[in-house]
Order: sequence, then C-alpha cells, then structure tokens
Amino acid sequence: MSAIHDMQAPLPDAAQVKLTCRNVWKVYRGDAAPYFDRNVSTDDAGGLARRMRADGAIPAVVDVSFDVHVGEIFVIMGLSGSGKSTVVRCLSRLVEPTRGEVRLDGEDLLRKSAKELIDIRRHKMGMVFQNFGLLPHLNVFDNIAFPLSLQDLPVPERNERVNRVIQLVGLEGRETSYPRQLSGGQQQRVGIARSLAVEPELWFLDEPFSALDPLIRRQMQDEFLRIQGRLKKSIVFITHDFLEALRIADRMMIMRDGMVVQVGAPSDLILNPADDYVAEFTEDVPMVRVLKAANVLDPSRTETPGMPQRDADTTVEDLLPLLASHPEGISMMRDGASIGVVTDASVISALAHDTHGHRRTDLPAQAPHHGREAT
Ligand SMILES: Nc1ncnc2c1ncn2[C@@H]1O[C@H](COP(=O)(O)OP(=O)(O)OP(=O)(O)O)[C@@H](O)[C@H]1O
Ligand SMILES: [Mg+2]
Repeated sequence: MSAIHDMQAPLPDAAQVKLTCRNVWKVYRGDAAPYFDRNVSTDDAGGLARRMRADGAIPAVVDVSFDVHVGEIFVIMGLSGSGKSTVVRCLSRLVEPTRGEVRLDGEDLLRKSAKELIDIRRHKMGMVFQNFGLLPHLNVFDNIAFPLSLQDLPVPERNERVNRVIQLVGLEGRETSYPRQLSGGQQQRVGIARSLAVEPELWFLDEPFSALDPLIRRQMQDEFLRIQGRLKKSIVFITHDFLEALRIADRMMIMRDGMVVQVGAPSDLILNPADDYVAEFTEDVPMVRVLKAANVLDPSRTETPGMPQRDADTTVEDLLPLLASHPEGISMMRDGASIGVVTDASVISALAHDTHGHRRTDLPAQAPHHGREAT
C-alpha cells in the first residue's frame, strides 16, 4: 500500500459514503492483463507500476483508493500528469478502469451496462471540465437546458429548473446572450449551471476555475461555497492551487505518478505532510490561515475578567484584528471552558517557529473545518 495518512476521525458509517474507489488502476498503452495475471499483491503497486513503465506502458492511475462522503468537497491535487483527470474519469467511467472497484451508493459501477451508465450520468452525476464545452450556437438559457432536454422532463419543470440555476450562479438577465458575448468567468458559470441543472448528487469538477483571473476566481469560489452550502452535493474537485483547496476542501488527496501520497484535511497536510512532495505543495500557504487558536495559545495563562472569548478552532488570521485591540489576550474556549489565552507573544512565538522551516509536527491533528462558513 502507498502511504495513506488519513488523520481524520474514523470514517462515518457506510451510509454516509457516497462514492468508493478501491484499488483502481488505469493502464494506457499495451495489454495490462499479464501484469495482473498472478494475483499481484497490491502491496507493491509502486514496483509494479515501475515495471509497466519500463516496458513502455503508461500506468496513469496506480492502485488508488479513497471514499467521498455525502455532502463533502473532496479535492484532488498533484503535479501535471499525476493522474488526477484520469481518476475522475474512471469514477464516471468516461475512462474504463483497468482494474479495481468503484461503488456509487454501494452499487458496483463497473458492472453497469452502457445503458444504465448513461442513465446514472444523466441523473446522478454532474461534470464540469476546464474548457466548459458550451454550444456556441445556443444562448445561455438553451445551453443550460440542453442536458435536461435529454431527460423526459415536462417543459414547465425544465424551464423552472433552468431559471433556478441561472439565479444561483448570478446570470439573471443574460439568458439570451450567446457564449461569445460572455466573459470567461460568465461562460464558466454557464458550464457550472448546466451541470447543476441536472441536480446531480455527485459533482465532478476538473480545474473549473483555473482559466480565471484571481479576482474572478475568488468570486467563483465564494459562489461555489454558497451554492454548496445550500445544496450539499458530494463533490470531487481537482485544482492546482493549494490556497483554493484550503478554502474549499473538507478533505483532500495528493497524487504522484498515479499513486495516492496522502489523504487528509488541508490543515493535516500542511501541519503533518507525509513527505517533501506534499510539503512543497503547501509551502506558500500563509500559516496564519492554517494555525488555529488552539495551536498558538498559552495554556499557562488564565482568563481575566472582561477578556474576550473565542472558539479554540478560530484561525489565527481571524483572531489578529481582535488581538490588536486586546493586548491582554483572548481567552480560548472549548466545550464551554477556557483552555488558555492567545496573546501577541504566543502568536509570534508559534509563527517564528514556522518561519525557521520547522514543520509543526508537534501539533495535535486538527478538526477538519474549512471554508464552510460561506452559506
Ligand atoms: N488517452 C490516453 N492515452 C495515453 N496516455 C494517457 C491518456 N490520457 C492520459 N494519459 C497519460 O496519463 C497520465 C495522467 O494523465 P492525467 O490527464 O490524468 O493527468 P493530470 O494529473 O490530470 O494532469 P494535468 O494536471 O496536466 O491535467 C499522463 O502521463 C498522461 O499522458
Ligand atoms: Mg487533468
């Protein structure tokens, strides 16, 4: 097995798992069957992948296993060519996995007939790809209505759904515009609205915002979190941007050469990276966004009368303004009791520790709460 470090609390029960991916392989070029002939032990998936590469095959996805929970945003990151898009395509069987198991709501997706699969994709899955694939000769409304026209929906219901998602992504008033009359960000929103109109339970987004400039990108992230706050889809989201992952991910997975390197909450990956490869992804992340009050408090100090109180899971970034106006410190609360005090000195000492290149492996694993305040 590859080193999978899932620092989260134990998985929720099976009913809360939306999608399961177990020991999935995708090998391009050549016949992969002989490699798996003799009941290959997946213990040495890496070694097997190296042998395949030496023989000229392309193992794009190597023994990948993970679960996507109901209502979570699961982010996949990794260098270009590490297999992210291929994994996600395997999940919907747009690419046929060479080996392994994919289960949706407990049902084996790899055993579904072509017809059943089309039905599942049409009704349960939404996909947004980097080049949004809008139909140039259709206006905004008709682009969004297009996948619904493949379902047997009565026209009034179809129109109602289209209008609803148009509102959701903030494109009211642009219904009759054609893609060429829209900005990149607006076109992206049409792509998102189109996949949402299907009301998918499971939503795959492959670098949906990477073509956007930083400002629009941030707006789209907010929009996305707002939509997700209302709709609570199960989402698999690919990005190259760790700050994006930090904002939106409940949990994330880092891939290298087709393999899973680490799975965990973004803060777990930052505070306890499995190796240098993971650490490099997180290098540019400002620690104030990741460190929680619990990580920087001074446990030896006690609350004084009139001292402000905050939850111990508050990020340092969010504490700083309050700290500026309260030099005496902020009392940190957990389960109704103060567990210590954050002061400017305790913050500086914690941050100084990090700027010297030390990873805070001494810190307790973090509760996985990210970016979900936006609803
Ligand atoms: N149809 C194909 N035939 C042969 N090789 C392929 C095919 N599709 C993908 N690959 C190879 O599989 C590997 C993984 O590709 P994939 O597109 O999944 O990477 P990725 O992580 O999504 O990269 P990027 O960040 O650039 O989008 C790459 O080496 C790629 O060249
Ligand atoms: Mg890709």
